[in-house]
Amino acid sequence: MLRPRSAGGATGGALVTVRTFDTAVEAAAALAGEVACRIREHPALVLGLPTGRTPVAFYRALVRSIRREGIPVSGLTTFNLDEFLGISAEQPGSYRSYMEHHLFGPIGLQPGQVNFLEGTTPDPRCECERYERAIAACGGLDVQVLGIGANGHIGFNEPGEWLALRTHRVTLRPETRRANAGSFGGRVDAVPHEALSMGLGTILQARKIVLLAAGREKARAVSLMVRGPLTTAVPASFLQLHSDVDVLLDRAAAALLADRGAERDRG
Ligand code: GLP
Repeated sequence: MLRPRSAGGATGGALVTVRTFDTAVEAAAALAGEVACRIREHPALVLGLPTGRTPVAFYRALVRSIRREGIPVSGLTTFNLDEFLGISAEQPGSYRSYMEHHLFGPIGLQPGQVNFLEGTTPDPRCECERYERAIAACGGLDVQVLGIGANGHIGFNEPGEWLALRTHRVTLRPETRRANAGSFGGRVDAVPHEALSMGLGTILQARKIVLLAAGREKARAVSLMVRGPLTTAVPASFLQLHSDVDVLLDRAAAALLADRGAERDRG
């Protein structure tokens, strides 16, 4: 049984390890410390990266660690999970510009080290195949960092009747477009209706997966991801199939895991 403990405590289940911290900043700092350590030990690391509000604190702490410890990043290769369709890399709402601002610029990654799905591609199918080939050519992802949507999506793999295995074109759900409005000046109507995203199979092939979640609005998705049945209604539930997943949470995001553990204990 997975049962979260207090700050920094770790509980190992068969497949998923949940670590709960007092605050989101502490969870992000712990993750940054681990990623920085891996880059130091394996300078040619291939790193999968997420966007969103939650990873901002992670990137801030990672940039600090890399600078403070003088960790060389010239051998690093990154692949981002997803990008909006129809949005160019230079546009402020693009995930590419988010990454330039929060990580690539501050640590000085060169364009050749950074891999991104091209939002303005004239041929999305071909672009998705190119991305899969690029990941394979690098020997696969060593570590994939993830966030989670309140509806249980990872990357842009939305809940539905079926899930795509590989990098693909997705139609975003209304709640996902609303959640992303902040990157488009708060205007939901400015958020693209479609995106390109790594598939669940692409993500599950990473050698190590680390997921960061914070806030009460993520608690239900987190609980279903860790303890729920495997279902396309909660794409993150498929992470249970992976043999090496760490989930780092603040107390609010872990709230329902604790409740359900307590319920079981009482029963
Ligand atoms: C977007 C991204 C996801 C991310 C999710 C949660 O939809 N495509 O990769 O996990 O948002 O983001 P936030 O941390 O802002 O809640």
